[in-house]
Amino acid sequence: MEQLKQRILTDGKSLEGGVLKVDSFINHQLDAHLMMDIANEFVARFNNGEGITKIITIEASGIAPAIFVGYLLNVPVVFIKKSKPKTITTAALTTSVYSFTKDKYYDMNMNAEFLNANDRVLFIDDFLANGNAALGVLDLIEQQKAQLAGMGFVIEKSFQKGYKRLKEKGIKIVSLARISSLENCQIQFAE
Ligand code: G4P
Repeated sequence: MEQLKQRILTDGKSLEGGVLKVDSFINHQLDAHLMMDIANEFVARFNNGEGITKIITIEASGIAPAIFVGYLLNVPVVFIKKSKPKTITTAALTTSVYSFTKDKYYDMNMNAEFLNANDRVLFIDDFLANGNAALGVLDLIEQQKAQLAGMGFVIEKSFQKGYKRLKEKGIKIVSLARISSLENCQIQFAE
C-alpha cells in the first residue's frame, strides 16, 4: 500500500534493535483517515469480506484498524484482552502467549460467548513480528472450532519469523507494508 509506505518513510523511525517507531500515526496518536484507507485496503484484499462474520484483534493498537474494517463489513469486532476483567465470569477463553519484545508470557482472554463454531474470523493487527500473538489468536479460534478466513497486518517485519510460521499453517496473510530490513536504522521495504 503505497500511501502507507510513504507515511512510514516520512513519519516512522527505525530504532536500535529492529524496532519501528510509528507512534505518531498508529501506536499512540492515530490518523483516522489513514486508518480508514487501511481498512478499505484490507476489505478489498479479503474479497470484500465475503463470508466473514467477525473481526478479532488484540488490545490496544489493533483496535483502530479492526474497528474500521468491522464498520465497512458491518460485522462485530472483538478485541482480546491482555488482563482478565471481572466481567468475564463463566465462559472465559484463554491462552498463554510469549512476547518476544517484552520477554515474558501474558494471557489472552476473551469471553467465549463472542466466538462460536459458526464464525468465520478475520484477524487484524498492527504488527506481525514473531507471530506469537497471531498464533495465540489461532489457538482461541481453534478452541471454539470457528474458522479463520485470514490475517491482516498493517506492518509486517519480514525479517522476523512470524510470516513463515503463519504461512506454514496455510493461513492467508495480507500485510499492507512489508519491511525487509531496519538495519543501521534504515527502513527498507520488501518488493
Ligand atoms: P509477535 O506477537 O509478532 O510475536 O510480536 P512480539 O511479541 O515481538 O511483539 C509484542 C508487541 O510489540 C506487540 O504489541 C507488537 O505489535 C509490537 N511490536 C513488535 N515489533 C514492533 C515494532 O517494530 N514496532 C512497534 N511499534 N511495535 C512492535 P503490544 O505489546 O501488544 O502493544 P500494543 O498493541 O498495546 O501497542
